[in-house]
Amino acid sequence: MIILVVLAFIAGCFLIFYSIKARKLDKATADLPAPGGTLPIVGNAMMFLGDNQTIVNPEDTQVLLDNCLDKDVVYRFLRPWLGHGLFIAPLGLWKTHRKVLLPVFHNKVVEEYVDVISNQAGVLLERLQEMSGKGKFDVLKYITACTLDIVFETAMGERMDVQHSPDTPYLRARHIVMEILNMRLFKVWLQPDCLFNLTPYAKQQKTNIHLTHKFTDEVVRKKRQEYEKNKENPTEDKQPGGKLKAVLDLLFGREIEFTNEQLREHIDSITIAGNDTTALVIAYTLVLLGIHQDVQQTVIDEQEKIFENSLRGANKEDIQEMKCLERVIKESMRLYTVVPIIARKVDKPLYLPHSKVTLPAGTGAAIGAFAMHRSEGIWGPKPNDFDPDRFLPERSIGRHPAAFVPFSYGSRNCIGRNFGMIIMKSIISSIIRCYKIEADEIGPLKIEMLLFPINGHQVKITRRAAFN
Ligand code: HEM
Repeated sequence: MIILVVLAFIAGCFLIFYSIKARKLDKATADLPAPGGTLPIVGNAMMFLGDNQTIVNPEDTQVLLDNCLDKDVVYRFLRPWLGHGLFIAPLGLWKTHRKVLLPVFHNKVVEEYVDVISNQAGVLLERLQEMSGKGKFDVLKYITACTLDIVFETAMGERMDVQHSPDTPYLRARHIVMEILNMRLFKVWLQPDCLFNLTPYAKQQKTNIHLTHKFTDEVVRKKRQEYEKNKENPTEDKQPGGKLKAVLDLLFGREIEFTNEQLREHIDSITIAGNDTTALVIAYTLVLLGIHQDVQQTVIDEQEKIFENSLRGANKEDIQEMKCLERVIKESMRLYTVVPIIARKVDKPLYLPHSKVTLPAGTGAAIGAFAMHRSEGIWGPKPNDFDPDRFLPERSIGRHPAAFVPFSYGSRNCIGRNFGMIIMKSIISSIIRCYKIEADEIGPLKIEMLLFPINGHQVKITRRAAFN
Protein backbone atom coordinates (compact mmCIF):
# COMPACT_ATOMS: atom_id res chain seq x y z
CA MET A 1 0.00 0.00 0.00
CA ILE A 2 2.78 2.42 0.99
CA ILE A 3 4.59 1.62 -2.27
CA LEU A 4 1.42 2.41 -4.23
CA VAL A 5 0.99 5.75 -2.45
CA VAL A 6 4.66 6.64 -3.10
CA LEU A 7 4.32 5.66 -6.76
CA ALA A 8 1.12 7.72 -7.15
CA PHE A 9 2.87 10.70 -5.49
CA ILE A 10 5.90 10.49 -7.81
CA ALA A 11 3.66 10.10 -10.89
CA GLY A 12 1.53 13.07 -9.74
CA CYS A 13 4.62 15.31 -9.27
CA PHE A 14 5.88 14.25 -12.68
CA LEU A 15 2.57 15.12 -14.37
CA ILE A 16 2.29 18.52 -12.64
CA PHE A 17 5.88 19.42 -13.55
CA TYR A 18 5.30 18.25 -17.10
CA SER A 19 2.09 20.18 -17.66
CA ILE A 20 3.54 23.46 -16.28
CA LYS A 21 6.54 23.08 -18.57
CA ALA A 22 4.35 22.21 -21.57
CA ARG A 23 2.05 25.21 -20.96
CA LYS A 24 5.02 27.63 -20.86
CA LEU A 25 6.38 26.20 -24.10
CA ASP A 26 2.99 26.25 -25.84
CA LYS A 27 2.72 29.96 -25.05
CA ALA A 28 6.16 30.70 -26.52
CA THR A 29 5.51 28.77 -29.73
CA ALA A 30 1.79 29.32 -30.22
CA ASP A 31 2.35 30.49 -33.81
CA LEU A 32 4.23 27.37 -34.91
CA PRO A 33 2.14 25.61 -37.56
CA ALA A 34 2.78 22.16 -36.12
CA PRO A 35 0.28 19.45 -37.05
CA GLY A 36 -1.34 19.42 -33.62
CA GLY A 37 0.73 16.46 -32.48
CA THR A 38 -0.54 14.18 -35.23
CA LEU A 39 0.68 12.99 -38.58
CA PRO A 40 -1.33 11.58 -41.47
CA ILE A 41 -1.57 7.79 -41.38
CA VAL A 42 0.62 7.36 -38.29
CA GLY A 43 -1.90 9.27 -36.16
CA ASN A 44 -0.84 10.58 -32.76
CA ALA A 45 2.32 8.52 -32.37
CA MET A 46 4.24 11.80 -32.21
CA MET A 47 2.88 12.20 -28.71
CA PHE A 48 5.85 10.30 -27.38
CA LEU A 49 7.98 13.33 -27.99
CA GLY A 50 6.33 15.08 -25.05
CA ASP A 51 6.85 18.85 -25.08
CA ASN A 52 8.74 18.99 -28.36
CA GLN A 53 7.65 21.41 -31.08
CA THR A 54 7.21 19.86 -34.51
CA ILE A 55 8.55 21.35 -37.73
CA VAL A 56 7.17 20.24 -41.09
CA ASN A 57 8.60 22.75 -43.59
CA PRO A 58 12.05 22.77 -45.29
CA GLU A 59 13.10 26.32 -44.34
CA ASP A 60 12.74 25.76 -40.60
CA THR A 61 14.11 22.21 -40.94
CA GLN A 62 17.29 23.61 -42.47
CA VAL A 63 17.70 26.24 -39.75
CA LEU A 64 17.10 23.73 -36.95
CA LEU A 65 19.36 21.00 -38.33
CA ASP A 66 22.14 23.47 -39.18
CA ASN A 67 22.08 25.10 -35.74
CA CYS A 68 21.09 22.41 -33.26
CA LEU A 69 23.54 19.55 -33.41
CA ASP A 70 22.87 18.05 -29.99
CA LYS A 71 20.33 15.24 -29.71
CA ASP A 72 17.07 15.78 -27.85
CA VAL A 73 16.63 14.34 -24.35
CA VAL A 74 14.25 11.74 -25.80
CA TYR A 75 17.35 9.78 -26.89
CA ARG A 76 18.53 9.53 -23.25
CA PHE A 77 17.03 6.04 -22.97
CA LEU A 78 19.69 4.84 -25.40
CA ARG A 79 22.52 6.09 -23.16
CA PRO A 80 23.01 2.93 -21.05
CA TRP A 81 23.33 0.96 -24.28
CA LEU A 82 25.23 3.22 -26.68
CA GLY A 83 27.08 5.39 -24.14
CA HIS A 84 28.79 8.19 -26.05
CA GLY A 85 28.76 6.38 -29.40
CA LEU A 86 28.40 8.65 -32.43
CA PHE A 87 24.61 8.36 -32.67
CA ILE A 88 23.91 10.04 -29.33
CA ALA A 89 27.33 11.53 -28.53
CA PRO A 90 27.13 14.92 -26.76
CA LEU A 91 28.10 17.82 -28.99
CA GLY A 92 31.73 18.45 -27.89
CA LEU A 93 32.72 14.81 -28.19
CA TRP A 94 30.66 14.30 -31.34
CA LYS A 95 32.54 17.07 -33.21
CA THR A 96 35.96 15.48 -32.75
CA HIS A 97 34.82 11.86 -33.17
CA ARG A 98 32.70 12.52 -36.28
CA LYS A 99 35.80 14.07 -37.95
CA VAL A 100 37.71 10.84 -37.35
CA LEU A 101 34.87 8.56 -38.45
CA LEU A 102 33.97 10.49 -41.63
CA PRO A 103 36.79 9.17 -43.86
CA VAL A 104 35.93 5.61 -42.82
CA PHE A 105 32.48 6.06 -44.41
CA HIS A 106 33.81 7.75 -47.56
CA ASN A 107 32.30 6.37 -50.77
CA LYS A 108 35.67 5.00 -51.94
CA VAL A 109 35.98 2.99 -48.70
CA VAL A 110 32.44 1.62 -48.46
CA GLU A 111 32.44 0.70 -52.17
CA GLU A 112 35.05 -1.89 -51.26
CA TYR A 113 32.35 -3.78 -49.35
CA VAL A 114 30.36 -4.64 -52.51
CA ASP A 115 31.56 -8.25 -52.54
CA VAL A 116 30.49 -8.81 -48.93
CA ILE A 117 27.08 -7.41 -49.89
CA SER A 118 26.65 -9.45 -53.05
CA ASN A 119 27.73 -12.69 -51.29
CA GLN A 120 25.07 -12.13 -48.64
CA ALA A 121 22.55 -11.23 -51.36
CA GLY A 122 23.30 -14.65 -52.89
CA VAL A 123 22.47 -16.36 -49.59
CA LEU A 124 19.27 -14.30 -49.37
CA LEU A 125 18.15 -15.47 -52.82
CA GLU A 126 18.61 -19.10 -51.73
CA ARG A 127 16.65 -18.51 -48.54
CA LEU A 128 13.82 -16.80 -50.39
CA GLN A 129 13.49 -19.82 -52.68
CA GLU A 130 11.49 -21.58 -49.92
CA MET A 131 8.77 -18.92 -50.32
CA SER A 132 8.73 -18.79 -54.13
CA GLY A 133 5.27 -19.53 -55.53
CA LYS A 134 3.86 -20.08 -52.04
CA GLY A 135 1.60 -17.03 -51.53
CA LYS A 136 2.05 -13.98 -49.32
CA PHE A 137 4.66 -13.73 -46.54
CA ASP A 138 6.41 -11.00 -44.53
CA VAL A 139 9.69 -10.35 -46.36
CA LEU A 140 11.24 -8.13 -43.63
CA LYS A 141 12.47 -11.09 -41.55
CA TYR A 142 14.56 -12.39 -44.49
CA ILE A 143 15.93 -8.95 -45.35
CA THR A 144 16.84 -8.10 -41.74
CA ALA A 145 18.88 -11.31 -41.37
CA CYS A 146 20.75 -10.40 -44.57
CA THR A 147 21.46 -6.77 -43.58
CA LEU A 148 22.61 -7.94 -40.13
CA ASP A 149 25.15 -10.23 -41.80
CA ILE A 150 26.33 -7.38 -44.03
CA VAL A 151 26.53 -4.74 -41.29
CA PHE A 152 28.28 -7.05 -38.80
CA GLU A 153 30.84 -8.24 -41.32
CA THR A 154 31.64 -4.77 -42.60
CA ALA A 155 31.54 -2.98 -39.23
CA MET A 156 33.28 -5.57 -37.06
CA GLY A 157 34.85 -8.01 -39.51
CA GLU A 158 32.76 -10.79 -37.91
CA ARG A 159 30.85 -13.34 -39.98
CA MET A 160 27.67 -13.92 -37.94
CA ASP A 161 25.72 -16.00 -40.48
CA VAL A 162 22.42 -14.77 -39.09
CA GLN A 163 20.77 -15.87 -42.34
CA HIS A 164 21.39 -19.50 -41.37
CA SER A 165 21.48 -19.19 -37.54
CA PRO A 166 19.09 -16.43 -36.52
CA ASP A 167 18.73 -17.47 -32.88
CA THR A 168 21.89 -16.58 -30.93
CA PRO A 169 22.10 -15.27 -27.33
CA TYR A 170 23.54 -11.98 -28.65
CA LEU A 171 20.69 -11.39 -31.11
CA ARG A 172 18.09 -12.35 -28.53
CA ALA A 173 19.61 -9.88 -26.04
CA ARG A 174 19.69 -7.13 -28.67
CA HIS A 175 16.05 -7.76 -29.48
CA ILE A 176 14.98 -7.60 -25.83
CA VAL A 177 16.83 -4.30 -25.29
CA MET A 178 15.14 -2.78 -28.35
CA GLU A 179 11.70 -3.93 -27.18
CA ILE A 180 12.21 -2.35 -23.75
CA LEU A 181 13.48 0.91 -25.29
CA ASN A 182 10.47 1.08 -27.60
CA MET A 183 8.16 0.50 -24.70
CA ARG A 184 9.74 3.32 -22.69
CA LEU A 185 9.29 5.74 -25.59
CA PHE A 186 5.53 5.19 -25.64
CA LYS A 187 4.64 4.46 -22.02
CA VAL A 188 4.94 7.82 -20.30
CA TRP A 189 4.88 6.27 -16.82
CA LEU A 190 8.02 4.23 -17.67
CA GLN A 191 9.99 7.31 -18.69
CA PRO A 192 11.22 8.69 -15.34
CA ASP A 193 14.17 6.54 -14.21
CA CYS A 194 12.79 6.41 -10.66
CA LEU A 195 9.63 4.62 -11.88
CA PHE A 196 11.33 2.51 -14.55
CA ASN A 197 13.86 1.23 -12.02
CA LEU A 198 11.02 -0.18 -9.92
CA THR A 199 9.84 -2.42 -12.78
CA PRO A 200 11.30 -5.82 -13.77
CA TYR A 201 12.19 -4.28 -17.17
CA ALA A 202 15.07 -2.34 -15.56
CA LYS A 203 16.83 -5.55 -14.51
CA GLN A 204 16.02 -7.25 -17.80
CA GLN A 205 17.45 -4.27 -19.70
CA LYS A 206 20.61 -4.22 -17.60
CA THR A 207 21.25 -7.95 -18.03
CA ASN A 208 20.71 -7.87 -21.78
CA ILE A 209 22.70 -4.69 -22.38
CA HIS A 210 25.53 -6.34 -20.45
CA LEU A 211 25.29 -9.37 -22.76
CA THR A 212 25.48 -7.26 -25.93
CA HIS A 213 28.39 -5.21 -24.52
CA LYS A 214 30.26 -8.40 -23.68
CA PHE A 215 29.90 -9.57 -27.26
CA THR A 216 31.23 -6.34 -28.83
CA ASP A 217 33.94 -5.98 -26.14
CA GLU A 218 35.26 -9.40 -27.11
CA VAL A 219 35.45 -8.48 -30.81
CA VAL A 220 37.15 -5.14 -30.00
CA ARG A 221 39.70 -6.91 -27.76
CA LYS A 222 40.53 -9.41 -30.51
CA LYS A 223 40.86 -6.66 -33.13
CA ARG A 224 43.11 -4.58 -30.86
CA GLN A 225 45.41 -7.58 -30.45
CA GLU A 226 45.54 -8.05 -34.24
CA TYR A 227 46.23 -4.32 -34.68
CA GLU A 228 49.07 -4.30 -32.13
CA LYS A 229 50.59 -7.38 -33.77
CA ASN A 230 50.48 -5.91 -37.28
CA LYS A 231 51.34 -2.31 -36.34
CA GLU A 232 54.81 -2.58 -37.81
CA ASN A 233 53.56 -3.46 -41.33
CA PRO A 234 50.42 -1.40 -41.92
CA THR A 235 48.52 -2.22 -45.12
CA GLU A 236 46.30 0.17 -47.06
CA ASP A 237 42.86 -1.40 -47.15
CA LYS A 238 43.49 -5.09 -46.59
CA GLN A 239 44.27 -7.11 -43.48
CA PRO A 240 47.27 -9.45 -43.71
CA GLY A 241 46.06 -12.44 -45.69
CA GLY A 242 44.11 -10.22 -48.10
CA LYS A 243 41.01 -9.89 -45.88
CA LEU A 244 39.16 -6.59 -46.29
CA LYS A 245 39.47 -4.11 -43.41
CA ALA A 246 36.24 -3.64 -41.49
CA VAL A 247 35.15 -0.26 -40.05
CA LEU A 248 36.52 -1.33 -36.66
CA ASP A 249 39.97 -2.14 -38.14
CA LEU A 250 40.03 1.34 -39.67
CA LEU A 251 39.40 2.99 -36.30
CA PHE A 252 42.76 1.96 -34.82
CA GLY A 253 45.76 4.27 -35.05
CA ARG A 254 43.75 7.40 -35.97
CA GLU A 255 44.21 11.03 -34.84
CA ILE A 256 42.30 10.06 -31.69
CA GLU A 257 43.46 6.86 -30.01
CA PHE A 258 40.05 5.46 -29.07
CA THR A 259 39.76 3.37 -25.91
CA ASN A 260 38.22 -0.09 -26.17
CA GLU A 261 35.07 1.26 -24.54
CA GLN A 262 34.77 4.08 -27.08
CA LEU A 263 35.29 1.63 -29.92
CA ARG A 264 32.54 -0.59 -28.54
CA GLU A 265 30.19 2.40 -28.28
CA HIS A 266 30.87 3.49 -31.87
CA ILE A 267 30.55 0.00 -33.32
CA ASP A 268 27.32 -0.68 -31.40
CA SER A 269 25.94 2.67 -32.60
CA ILE A 270 26.83 1.86 -36.20
CA THR A 271 25.34 -1.64 -36.17
CA ILE A 272 22.16 -0.40 -34.49
CA ALA A 273 21.72 2.73 -36.63
CA GLY A 274 22.62 0.94 -39.85
CA ASN A 275 20.74 -2.30 -39.82
CA ASP A 276 16.99 -2.02 -39.30
CA THR A 277 16.84 1.27 -41.23
CA THR A 278 18.38 -0.30 -44.33
CA ALA A 279 16.30 -3.49 -44.02
CA LEU A 280 13.07 -1.51 -43.69
CA VAL A 281 13.72 0.65 -46.76
CA ILE A 282 14.47 -2.48 -48.81
CA ALA A 283 11.26 -4.15 -47.60
CA TYR A 284 9.07 -1.07 -48.28
CA THR A 285 10.61 -0.73 -51.74
CA LEU A 286 9.89 -4.38 -52.57
CA VAL A 287 6.25 -3.99 -51.54
CA LEU A 288 5.93 -0.80 -53.60
CA LEU A 289 7.44 -2.54 -56.63
CA GLY A 290 4.96 -5.39 -56.05
CA ILE A 291 2.04 -2.95 -56.06
CA HIS A 292 3.28 -0.92 -59.07
CA GLN A 293 4.00 -3.53 -61.74
CA ASP A 294 4.74 -0.84 -64.36
CA VAL A 295 7.55 0.58 -62.20
CA GLN A 296 8.83 -2.95 -61.53
CA GLN A 297 9.07 -3.47 -65.30
CA THR A 298 11.05 -0.24 -65.73
CA VAL A 299 13.46 -1.36 -63.02
CA ILE A 300 13.80 -4.78 -64.67
CA ASP A 301 14.52 -3.12 -68.04
CA GLU A 302 17.35 -1.17 -66.42
CA GLN A 303 18.68 -4.32 -64.73
CA GLU A 304 18.64 -6.16 -68.08
CA LYS A 305 20.70 -3.38 -69.64
CA ILE A 306 23.29 -3.69 -66.86
CA PHE A 307 23.39 -7.46 -66.30
CA GLU A 308 21.88 -8.89 -69.53
CA ASN A 309 20.36 -12.09 -68.15
CA SER A 310 22.90 -12.74 -65.41
CA LEU A 311 22.18 -13.22 -61.70
CA ARG A 312 25.75 -12.32 -60.70
CA GLY A 313 26.23 -9.98 -57.74
CA ALA A 314 26.44 -6.24 -58.40
CA ASN A 315 29.84 -4.51 -58.51
CA LYS A 316 30.45 -0.80 -57.89
CA GLU A 317 30.13 0.15 -61.59
CA ASP A 318 26.78 -1.70 -61.83
CA ILE A 319 25.54 0.11 -58.75
CA GLN A 320 26.41 3.52 -60.21
CA GLU A 321 24.36 2.68 -63.30
CA MET A 322 21.17 1.91 -61.34
CA LYS A 323 19.69 5.41 -61.76
CA CYS A 324 16.10 4.27 -62.11
CA LEU A 325 16.34 2.00 -59.06
CA GLU A 326 17.85 4.89 -57.11
CA ARG A 327 14.81 7.06 -57.88
CA VAL A 328 12.52 4.22 -56.80
CA ILE A 329 14.38 3.88 -53.49
CA LYS A 330 14.22 7.63 -52.90
CA GLU A 331 10.48 7.70 -53.59
CA SER A 332 10.04 4.77 -51.21
CA MET A 333 11.98 6.70 -48.52
CA ARG A 334 9.83 9.75 -49.17
CA LEU A 335 6.53 7.91 -48.71
CA TYR A 336 7.72 5.55 -45.97
CA THR A 337 10.29 7.59 -44.09
CA VAL A 338 11.68 4.94 -41.77
CA VAL A 339 13.10 7.57 -39.39
CA PRO A 340 9.86 9.58 -39.34
CA ILE A 341 10.89 12.03 -36.64
CA ILE A 342 14.28 13.65 -35.99
CA ALA A 343 14.55 15.32 -32.59
CA ARG A 344 17.16 17.89 -31.52
CA LYS A 345 17.89 19.94 -28.42
CA VAL A 346 17.58 23.73 -28.76
CA ASP A 347 20.48 25.05 -26.66
CA LYS A 348 20.09 28.76 -27.46
CA PRO A 349 17.01 30.71 -28.61
CA LEU A 350 16.40 29.84 -32.25
CA TYR A 351 14.37 31.91 -34.71
CA LEU A 352 12.47 29.88 -37.29
CA PRO A 353 12.09 32.08 -40.41
CA HIS A 354 9.16 30.21 -41.96
CA SER A 355 7.03 29.93 -38.82
CA LYS A 356 8.27 33.29 -37.48
CA VAL A 357 8.61 32.00 -33.94
CA THR A 358 11.57 31.78 -31.60
CA LEU A 359 12.12 28.45 -29.90
CA PRO A 360 13.29 29.04 -26.33
CA ALA A 361 16.62 27.59 -25.20
CA GLY A 362 16.36 24.32 -23.32
CA THR A 363 13.43 22.93 -25.29
CA GLY A 364 13.31 20.14 -27.83
CA ALA A 365 12.28 20.43 -31.46
CA ALA A 366 11.29 17.63 -33.80
CA ILE A 367 11.36 17.50 -37.58
CA GLY A 368 8.22 15.70 -38.76
CA ALA A 369 10.04 14.19 -41.75
CA PHE A 370 7.18 11.82 -42.57
CA ALA A 371 4.65 14.67 -42.70
CA MET A 372 6.99 16.96 -44.65
CA HIS A 373 7.61 14.21 -47.21
CA ARG A 374 3.86 14.02 -47.86
CA SER A 375 3.18 17.76 -47.99
CA GLU A 376 1.27 18.96 -51.05
CA GLY A 377 2.96 22.37 -50.75
CA ILE A 378 6.33 20.75 -51.38
CA TRP A 379 5.56 17.75 -53.59
CA GLY A 380 2.64 19.07 -55.61
CA PRO A 381 -0.77 17.50 -56.19
CA LYS A 382 -1.18 13.86 -55.11
CA PRO A 383 1.76 13.81 -52.68
CA ASN A 384 0.68 10.36 -51.44
CA ASP A 385 1.07 8.80 -54.89
CA PHE A 386 4.11 6.65 -55.68
CA ASP A 387 5.91 8.47 -58.51
CA PRO A 388 9.70 7.82 -58.65
CA ASP A 389 10.07 10.33 -61.51
CA ARG A 390 9.70 13.09 -58.93
CA PHE A 391 13.42 12.50 -58.42
CA LEU A 392 14.36 13.02 -62.09
CA PRO A 393 16.87 15.90 -62.19
CA GLU A 394 14.51 18.10 -64.25
CA ARG A 395 11.69 17.63 -61.72
CA SER A 396 13.97 18.30 -58.74
CA ILE A 397 14.97 21.79 -59.90
CA GLY A 398 13.97 24.40 -57.33
CA ARG A 399 13.16 21.87 -54.59
CA HIS A 400 14.47 23.05 -51.24
CA PRO A 401 17.60 21.08 -50.18
CA ALA A 402 15.99 20.29 -46.82
CA ALA A 403 12.66 19.12 -48.29
CA PHE A 404 13.83 15.51 -48.49
CA VAL A 405 15.56 14.34 -45.31
CA PRO A 406 15.38 10.52 -44.98
CA PHE A 407 19.02 10.62 -43.83
CA SER A 408 18.52 13.87 -41.90
CA TYR A 409 20.31 17.02 -43.07
CA GLY A 410 23.37 19.13 -42.21
CA SER A 411 26.60 18.12 -40.55
CA ARG A 412 24.91 15.64 -38.17
CA ASN A 413 23.20 13.73 -40.97
CA CYS A 414 23.52 9.97 -41.45
CA ILE A 415 27.18 9.06 -41.75
CA GLY A 416 26.26 5.75 -43.43
CA ARG A 417 23.95 7.13 -46.13
CA ASN A 418 26.20 6.23 -49.11
CA PHE A 419 26.88 2.82 -47.67
CA GLY A 420 23.14 2.33 -47.02
CA MET A 421 22.36 3.26 -50.63
CA ILE A 422 24.92 0.75 -51.95
CA ILE A 423 23.47 -2.02 -49.79
CA MET A 424 19.89 -1.20 -50.81
CA LYS A 425 20.64 -1.06 -54.53
CA SER A 426 22.67 -4.26 -54.50
CA ILE A 427 20.12 -6.31 -52.52
CA ILE A 428 17.05 -5.05 -54.42
CA SER A 429 18.83 -5.60 -57.73
CA SER A 430 19.54 -9.25 -56.82
CA ILE A 431 16.02 -9.94 -55.58
CA ILE A 432 14.23 -8.27 -58.45
CA ARG A 433 16.28 -10.11 -61.10
CA CYS A 434 15.62 -13.44 -59.40
CA TYR A 435 11.94 -13.01 -58.43
CA LYS A 436 8.85 -11.30 -59.75
CA ILE A 437 7.15 -9.52 -56.86
CA GLU A 438 3.44 -8.98 -56.23
CA ALA A 439 1.90 -7.09 -53.32
CA ASP A 440 -1.22 -5.29 -52.07
CA GLU A 441 -1.49 -1.97 -50.26
CA ILE A 442 0.85 -1.45 -47.29
CA GLY A 443 -2.00 -0.42 -44.97
CA PRO A 444 -1.79 1.29 -41.56
CA LEU A 445 1.56 2.17 -40.03
CA LYS A 446 2.92 2.42 -36.52
CA ILE A 447 5.94 4.20 -35.10
CA GLU A 448 8.24 2.29 -32.82
CA MET A 449 11.73 3.74 -32.93
CA LEU A 450 11.25 3.39 -36.68
CA LEU A 451 8.22 3.26 -38.99
CA PHE A 452 6.58 -0.17 -39.42
CA PRO A 453 3.49 -1.37 -41.29
CA ILE A 454 1.08 -2.94 -38.79
CA ASN A 455 0.45 -5.87 -41.14
CA GLY A 456 4.09 -6.41 -42.06
CA HIS A 457 5.73 -6.21 -45.49
CA GLN A 458 3.58 -8.78 -47.27
CA VAL A 459 4.75 -9.89 -50.72
CA LYS A 460 4.33 -12.84 -53.06
CA ILE A 461 7.38 -13.93 -55.08
CA THR A 462 7.76 -16.13 -58.18
CA ARG A 463 11.06 -17.21 -59.75
CA ARG A 464 11.84 -15.37 -63.01
CA ALA A 465 13.04 -17.49 -65.90
CA ALA A 466 14.74 -14.59 -67.71
CA PHE A 467 17.77 -14.37 -65.35
CA ASN A 468 20.01 -17.26 -64.35
C1 HEM B 1 18.31 3.52 -45.45
C2 HEM B 1 19.20 3.45 -44.48
C3 HEM B 1 19.41 4.49 -43.44
C4 HEM B 1 18.58 5.51 -43.01
C5 HEM B 1 17.19 5.85 -43.51
C6 HEM B 1 19.30 6.22 -41.98
C7 HEM B 1 18.83 7.36 -41.35
C8 HEM B 1 19.54 8.08 -40.42
C9 HEM B 1 19.08 9.32 -39.82
C10 HEM B 1 17.75 10.00 -40.13
C11 HEM B 1 20.04 9.73 -38.96
C12 HEM B 1 20.00 10.99 -38.10
C13 HEM B 1 19.15 10.72 -36.89
C14 HEM B 1 18.95 11.92 -36.04
O1 HEM B 1 19.51 12.99 -36.24
O2 HEM B 1 18.19 11.74 -35.08
C15 HEM B 1 21.12 8.76 -39.00
C16 HEM B 1 22.28 8.84 -38.26
C17 HEM B 1 23.23 7.85 -38.26
N1 HEM B 1 23.31 6.75 -39.08
FE1 HEM B 1 21.97 6.27 -40.53
N2 HEM B 1 20.52 5.63 -41.80
C18 HEM B 1 20.63 4.58 -42.68
C19 HEM B 1 21.72 3.74 -42.84
C20 HEM B 1 22.84 3.77 -42.08
C21 HEM B 1 23.96 2.88 -42.24
C22 HEM B 1 24.07 1.80 -43.30
C23 HEM B 1 24.84 3.18 -41.23
C24 HEM B 1 26.18 2.58 -40.92
C25 HEM B 1 26.54 1.35 -41.25
C26 HEM B 1 24.28 4.28 -40.47
C27 HEM B 1 24.87 4.87 -39.36
C28 HEM B 1 24.41 6.03 -38.76
C29 HEM B 1 25.12 6.69 -37.66
C30 HEM B 1 26.39 6.22 -37.00
C31 HEM B 1 24.38 7.84 -37.36
C32 HEM B 1 24.73 8.91 -36.33
C33 HEM B 1 25.49 10.02 -37.05
C34 HEM B 1 25.89 11.18 -36.16
O3 HEM B 1 25.19 11.50 -35.19
O4 HEM B 1 26.93 11.78 -36.49
N3 HEM B 1 23.07 4.61 -41.01
N4 HEM B 1 20.79 7.78 -39.90
